Amino acid sequence: MDKVLSQILAPYSGQRGSLILVLQKVQAALGYIPAEAISEIANCLSMSESEVYGVASFYALFRFERQGEHCIRVCQGTACHVRGGMRILDTVEQTLGVHCGETTRDYKFSLERVACFGACALAPVMVIDKTVNGKMTSTKAKKILDSYSHTV
Ligand code: FES
Repeated sequence: MDKVLSQILAPYSGQRGSLILVLQKVQAALGYIPAEAISEIANCLSMSESEVYGVASFYALFRFERQGEHCIRVCQGTACHVRGGMRILDTVEQTLGVHCGETTRDYKFSLERVACFGACALAPVMVIDKTVNGKMTSTKAKKILDSYSHTV
């Protein structure tokens, strides 16, 4: 990670105004902003760690925990909710042994809930990475998760 961070940070030494850009690049490269990166970013941009963390934590797009290889998002918008979205979320939580906002121990999956994907006609919807899975049932959700579990 140190080498990756060094390469990202090198062009921005002392450039406080580049903080957001640097945070975006670090997250794109590592998938999240680890604590060690906060420290190195602060050093590089001549800022304090609390300043860097303060800015990074202001924006919902930055993550501070390592994410799973696959991001599962289960819709809880109105259309999905009335068509059983909560059941789908329960199924995924039970199958993976995690709650919303958590990542499985093997870092295979991270689970989130969202308000609406804009695909209400397909409700209830579960999105894995960029794949939209519509008209979900608990059985279908388990099968899909199982298919991902067998990929490497
Ligand atoms: S409410 Fe789920 S896609 Fe719109």
